[in-house]
Amino acid sequence: MATKLSVNINKIATLRNARGGNVPDLLKFAKDCERYGAQGITVHPRPDERHVRYQDVMDLKPLLTTEFNIEGNPKEQKFVDLVMKIKPAQVTLVPDALGQITSNHGWDTVTHLDYLKDIISRFKDAGIRTSIFVDADVKMIEGAKETGTDRIELYTESYAKEYSENKDKAIQPFIIAANRANELNLGINAGHDLSLENLNYFAKHINGLLEVSIGHALISDAIYFGIENTIQLYLRQLKMN
Ligand code: PXP
Repeated sequence: MATKLSVNINKIATLRNARGGNVPDLLKFAKDCERYGAQGITVHPRPDERHVRYQDVMDLKPLLTTEFNIEGNPKEQKFVDLVMKIKPAQVTLVPDALGQITSNHGWDTVTHLDYLKDIISRFKDAGIRTSIFVDADVKMIEGAKETGTDRIELYTESYAKEYSENKDKAIQPFIIAANRANELNLGINAGHDLSLENLNYFAKHINGLLEVSIGHALISDAIYFGIENTIQLYLRQLKMN
C-alpha cells in the first residue's frame, strides 16, 4: 500500500498572518491540496496562534474530504477541547513547549506512560485515531505500545540532517525502530524535514510506512513549482518504491 501524503499547511497560515488579512486563503489552499492529490491535511495549532488558529481548524473540518490530522501538545486543555470537538481522523500528540519554533523531540514514553495512557484512551474513546511523536529509539517505541496508541510518528529530523553525508547511516535507527513497531503492530507515520531530496529513500527503507506529514520543504518547493506540481512530485517519490 502506498504511503499517504498529508500536507502540513501551517506555513500558509504563517504567510497569511504576516498581513492580517486572508491572503493566501488557507481554506482554499487546503481544498486545492486535496484536489491535487494530497491524501490528508495536517495542522499544528499552537496556543499563541502564530500560524494555524483554533478557528481555522474549526473552519477546515466541514470542508475536508481526506484525512484531517491535528497535531499538538495535549497538556494544553484548549488543544484537547478542540480535538474533542472536531473529532479529526487522527490526533498526533507532540511534546512541544510553548513558543518553540518547531517540534524538536519526541515523547519520553517511559516517563510519561501514565499520562499518555490516560489521554490516548480519552481520544480513542471519542473515535479518534491516535499517533504519538517519538524519536527512532526502540525503548520509546516499546513505551508507545504500552500507551495503547494506534500509531507512532517517527521524528525524522536526524535522518534529514544526516542524509546528505551518509544516507545509509542516517536511515539505520529508523529501520530498527520501524521493525520493532511492526512487530508490536503499531502503525507508522513519519515527519519533520522530509523533502523531495530525502523522501524516496526513507519511504523505500521503512516497511509499513503509512503516512508522511510534510510542511516546510513542500510549501517552499511550491514557491518554485506551484502547489499542483509540487504535490505530484512528492506523490511520485512515494510511489517509486
Ligand atoms: N510532524 C510534526 C509532529 C511536526 O511538528 C511537524 C512540523 O510542524 C511536521 C511533522 C512537519 O515538519 P516539516 O514542516 O519539517 O515538514
